[in-house]
Amino acid sequence: MIQLFHVTKKYGPGAPALSDVSLALEKGEFAFLTGPSGAGKTTLLRLIFRYEVPTSGQVIVNNENVATMRHRRIPHLRRQIGVVFQDFKLLPRKTVFENVAYATKVVGLAPREQRARTYQMLEMLGLNHRLHNYPEQVSGGEQQRVAIARALVNRPLILLADEPTGNLDPELSREIMGLFKDINSHGTTVLIATHDRDLIQRMARRVIALEHGALMPAGAS
Ligand SMILES: Nc1ncnc2c1ncn2[C@@H]1O[C@H](COP(=O)(O)OP(=O)(O)OP(=O)(O)O)[C@@H](O)[C@H]1O
Ligand SMILES: [Mg+2]
Repeated sequence: MIQLFHVTKKYGPGAPALSDVSLALEKGEFAFLTGPSGAGKTTLLRLIFRYEVPTSGQVIVNNENVATMRHRRIPHLRRQIGVVFQDFKLLPRKTVFENVAYATKVVGLAPREQRARTYQMLEMLGLNHRLHNYPEQVSGGEQQRVAIARALVNRPLILLADEPTGNLDPELSREIMGLFKDINSHGTTVLIATHDRDLIQRMARRVIALEHGALMPAGAS
């Protein structure tokens, strides 16, 4: 589903953010991406949905080379991928409901289906009482859940989540992980960047570890 071949990413002179990273994630896999701050986790996720392009090497997503993909193919790629950003990226002038509904509108769902799925997702994430609030009116943990609802509402083939439990208390983060597992059991490939060692231990899934932009051997972390 996701393959990286000898991927190097440099943002400028100096040490690359990623250097010579090769890895593969099968369809339906559930993996954690870990490593210290600055190791390259966010960069790796960004390459997968073509928010960045590699300096060298190839990124293949669902059999397409995203690095050389034509611009008009990018929306198609992004429709297959749900992303929870490290800083949420909610639209400040839209309500909680509208932030999630907007994602369903962009992919062209019928209005009735847009509403139904949006309500369902927001209910699942315990945000029923926040539907008509704006992002700045809700807590950090609630904003994070809105971002998660938005990433999942289109039932993506791939879910990329960047520190999705960073602002959540332990109980809520367990619930969110349960939700991700559930999504994964329906076939979505899941890749989660996190520092949270407890979470990783508890989940007992594959761990991809980065350090200074390089992949660590499996089990080394
Ligand atoms: N847009 C950018 N321009 C220049 N340098 C960048 C950019 N984004 C990231 N970097 C640099 O690339 C390296 C990897 O950053 P990245 O954000 O991928 O790390 P990370 O593992 O996600 O860190 P964190 O755990 O703090 O989120 C860092 O040295 C960072 O300063
Ligand atoms: Mg990051």
